Amino acid sequence: MPNDLYATVFENNRRWVAEKRASDPDFFTRLAGGQSPEFLYIGCADSRVPANEIMGLEPGEVFVHRNIANLVVNTDINCSSVIQFAVEHLDVRHIVVCGHYSCGGVKAAMQSQDLGLLNGWLREVRDVYRLHAEELNAIEDETARYHRLVELNVEEQCVNVIKTAFVQKSYRRRGFPIVHGWVYKLEEGLLRDLQVPFEEVL
Ligand code: CO
Repeated sequence: MPNDLYATVFENNRRWVAEKRASDPDFFTRLAGGQSPEFLYIGCADSRVPANEIMGLEPGEVFVHRNIANLVVNTDINCSSVIQFAVEHLDVRHIVVCGHYSCGGVKAAMQSQDLGLLNGWLREVRDVYRLHAEELNAIEDETARYHRLVELNVEEQCVNVIKTAFVQKSYRRRGFPIVHGWVYKLEEGLLRDLQVPFEEVL
C-alpha cells in the first residue's frame, strides 16, 4: 500500500526503543516501576498538538487527557476520573488546560451547522460564547473573534477544573495543584500562558 504509515509504525517503534536504550539503559525498567508526573495536561485531540513534544517532556512526566476542544465537562465521567486520579493518586503539582488557535472544535461551535453527535459535546463551547457574547460580538474581525473564543474557552475550562471538589480539597490541604490555562499557536509552535487568576477563582 503506497503512503501507508501503518507499516512504518513498528519499525519506528523498534528504532525508538534502541535509541532510548542507547542513551539511557534503565529507561524502560524505570518507567515500568511507576509514574509520578508533575503535570496533568488537558488538551485538544487535534493531531497537531502533541502534549509531550510541545512541553519538551519525556514519558512519565505528564499525565494526559485529550478531547475535542479541550473541554472539562462536569458530567463527563472520563475527564472527571482523570482529574481525580491525577490529583488524589499521582499528586500532580500542576493542571494545565491547553487550547489552540485554529481549533476545529471551537470553530464548529461558532457555526450553526448540524454536527450530529458533536452538537451535544460542542454545546459547552457555545455556552462559553453565550457567557462572553458581549465581548465577542464587539470584535468585528471574525478571525480575531475566533481566537478570543479559543482563549475564553480555555479560561472557562480552567474554572471547571478549579471548581472540581477534589481539586479544591487538595489545594486547601496541600497548596497544590495549581491550574494553568495555555494556548498554543500552530503557525509558531509556541505556548502562551494566559495567566488565569487561579487564586481569585478558588
Ligand atoms: Co482543537
